[in-house]
Amino acid sequence: MKESISHSISQHSMALSSIAILCLLFFTHHQLAESTQPPYACGSESSTYPFCNPKLGISERAKDLVSRLTLDEKIAQLVNTAPSIPRLGIPSYQWWSEALHGVADAGIGITFNGIIKSATSFPQVILTAASFDPNLWYQISKAIGREARAVYNAGEAKGMTFWAPNINIFRDPRWGRGQETPGEDPLVTAEYAVTYVRGLQGDSIKGGTLGERLQASACCKHFTAYDLDQWKGLDRFLFDARVTSQDLADTYQPPFQNCIQKGRASGIMCAYNRVNGVPNCADFNLLTKTARKQWNFDGYITSDCEAVTIIHEKQGYAKTAEDAIADVFRAGMDVECGNYTLKHAKSAVLEKKLPIYQIDRALENLFSIRIRLGLFDGNPAKLTYGTIGPNEVCSKQHRQLALEAARDGIVLLKNTASLLPLPKTKPSISLAVIGPNANASSKVVLGNYYGRPCKLVTLLEGFKNYAKDTIYHPGCSDGPQCDFAEIEQAVEVAKKVDYVVLVMGLDQSQERESHDREYLELPGRQEELINSVAKASKKPVILVLLCGGPVDITSAKFDSKIGAILWAGYPGELGGLALAQIIFGDHNPGGRLPITWYPKDFIKVPMTDMRMRADPASGYPGRTYRFYTGPKVYEFGYGLSYSKYSYKFLSVTQNNLHINQSSTHLTVKNSEAIRYKHVSELGNETCQSMSVSVTIGVENQGNMVGKHPILLFIRQGKQRNGNPVKQLVRFQSVKLDAGEKGRVAFELRPCEHLSVANEAGLMVIEEGSYLLLVGDQEYPINVTV
Ligand SMILES: *[C@@H]1O[C@H](CO)[C@@H](O)[C@H](O)[C@H]1NC(C)=O
Ligand SMILES: *[C@@H]1O[C@H](CO)[C@@H](O)[C@H](O)[C@H]1NC(C)=O
Ligand SMILES: *[C@@H]1O[C@H](CO)[C@@H](O)[C@H](O)[C@H]1NC(C)=O
Ligand SMILES: *[C@@H]1O[C@H](CO)[C@@H](O)[C@H](O)[C@H]1NC(C)=O
Repeated sequence: MKESISHSISQHSMALSSIAILCLLFFTHHQLAESTQPPYACGSESSTYPFCNPKLGISERAKDLVSRLTLDEKIAQLVNTAPSIPRLGIPSYQWWSEALHGVADAGIGITFNGIIKSATSFPQVILTAASFDPNLWYQISKAIGREARAVYNAGEAKGMTFWAPNINIFRDPRWGRGQETPGEDPLVTAEYAVTYVRGLQGDSIKGGTLGERLQASACCKHFTAYDLDQWKGLDRFLFDARVTSQDLADTYQPPFQNCIQKGRASGIMCAYNRVNGVPNCADFNLLTKTARKQWNFDGYITSDCEAVTIIHEKQGYAKTAEDAIADVFRAGMDVECGNYTLKHAKSAVLEKKLPIYQIDRALENLFSIRIRLGLFDGNPAKLTYGTIGPNEVCSKQHRQLALEAARDGIVLLKNTASLLPLPKTKPSISLAVIGPNANASSKVVLGNYYGRPCKLVTLLEGFKNYAKDTIYHPGCSDGPQCDFAEIEQAVEVAKKVDYVVLVMGLDQSQERESHDREYLELPGRQEELINSVAKASKKPVILVLLCGGPVDITSAKFDSKIGAILWAGYPGELGGLALAQIIFGDHNPGGRLPITWYPKDFIKVPMTDMRMRADPASGYPGRTYRFYTGPKVYEFGYGLSYSKYSYKFLSVTQNNLHINQSSTHLTVKNSEAIRYKHVSELGNETCQSMSVSVTIGVENQGNMVGKHPILLFIRQGKQRNGNPVKQLVRFQSVKLDAGEKGRVAFELRPCEHLSVANEAGLMVIEEGSYLLLVGDQEYPINVTV
């Protein structure tokens, strides 16, 4: 009981006490229901129902099932904890499970209470994103999907619907949940979303092979413009995000559109917050017009937990509880996480606020998912995914993948005079590992929404592999807060050894769900600890930062007593091994930052200001590398390696693009008349026909093999109002031996990669000169319309 409580406290908005009650209810309910609960639907007695007939279409089966339910049975199915319907042989179902970076018991659908006690715990998403390697991302989510099925097959899952990935843009460095996301760039986030969904659901990496069957169901969350948890007393439940059409079009929505259209995700979660006054879960334009009609979404939509309750009780958007229920189902939501619907749907129906056909529509979406998961085809052990066994959980391959993800994500930020890698001599060097995160517990290294790891290697154990007598001192023992006497002790330790690694940063007490930061500096007296130890050490020290969001470490960046800096996110169950392998040169670091690291003054910008674009007139600096114009500590895409890489544009198939279809429009920006085309007017065929192939040569000039992400940006020749400073358009990771030359070919499609959002939220291609950028290389192309 205690275990499951501690695993749930950081999740969603539920109070600890209600979870304890929930666990109790669950437990007793489960035991009482054992005799009447069918083990699976469509076993021998019930298998004559049309909804059990695998030869019929999914929606026909779902419709048949829904048509057999009474109103009370229907209403009971509209919440995350859906009860069994014994008279039809239908077992209960739990919609809420989590698998952000590994199958987790953070939701309530997964229990780990049988032969499977844990699952592979991959690095927190922000670190995995830093590899810029979609192939790796896909392998990870495929592993998660297989482990999820194994857990289900072992009888330890009450559902197969996972509420991941979190694909909100990491808009503000203070966001407590930024760690869960792939960072600040909409293209990276979109690609991460697509690969995650494909891997988890059982599609191929390129997509297109997913039929109706689902290995597991993924959920694009939180739809939309959700990226503030609790900042200076304002919480996500009350926050009304004021978002422009322009920012929606090219920042907030693209990850969701891709998650749905390219990824073919079978789930969406609508977010707590309002956007321009309307609660997301009650927004017909968002859920039905945009997702279902425009993007052809055919899955289910869940609310975030208690998001329906707050529409009436906190936001006051709906006058009564019944109005709130009617609003969300009319908007297109299908299932509530929470119980508000259980209490108020009946009266909403009686008051004629909620029509039955809306309930049926929602239920058909819900049962379609359960049917697609293979839960209405009789004994699941006999089905496609029925043979995935417990041996696949925590397998050698999956743990190797967790190690690779940590190694490929860790970013080398500074390495003066090649301090790293440290020598692997015998006898080993004398080493001290100092800092509040130097022997970080599983709660720190896993990040939030974690499951139970297979076998965690602590950072300290990782170092001991290379220097057996590594001395450890926390420097600060009470979380990240430092005590003066401890700093003194740490200094004495540092004086005795050849090398010092300081492991600092944040943890969940600083950044988490329902808790954004107010400052960007290292917390407590960490900076003092760093400076004191660095000053006392024989050699320049190595600084390692564990954190999801960025910290302002300007002083360390310029301090000559700090020779090397590494960012290790929250590196997962094998992070300790990965970090030590990098520091001792058994792996060549290649990760690059997926977020801008801002200086501490950035906090002058209110976190509530959703505008992406800078406004020089009012001193608003804009957000992310695409629009931010102020000074940076480190920029998006920054990352060193033990190798130096050089680039060359080898060929570009066209450098003069002329678009002579459809009408040309004119606009004035910075008192210059600009000609442009609407992408929507060009049509699919024209867009496809205009592609440009770009071939880039890259050389590993170092003496170590390395994996290196190549980032191709585009920039307009002349920076124009409202347009990005630059934009990532393509990326790929290549592995090159020492001294090896390689090449990558990228296809650029002007409608996708050269277009910008205008103020009306429409994508347009502007006439003018553009520059392709890779590293320090530039290549000009010209566009006329
Ligand atoms: C909702 O009701 C179910 C069934 O009565 C109960 O098990 C669960 O704890 C409730 N959920 C919440 C979020 O209160
Ligand atoms: C390091 O952490 C582990 C696990 O949390 C703990 O068992 C161990 O005692 C710690 N080591 C030291 C030297 O404090
Ligand atoms: C553009 O297309 C129109 C009609 O297809 C043609 O008359 C015109 O000459 C073309 N202009 C250019 C610059 O190619
Ligand atoms: C656009 O055209 C391409 C190639 O001609 C085709 O594969 C794709 O399905 C089309 N997309 C749409 C939305 O029509």
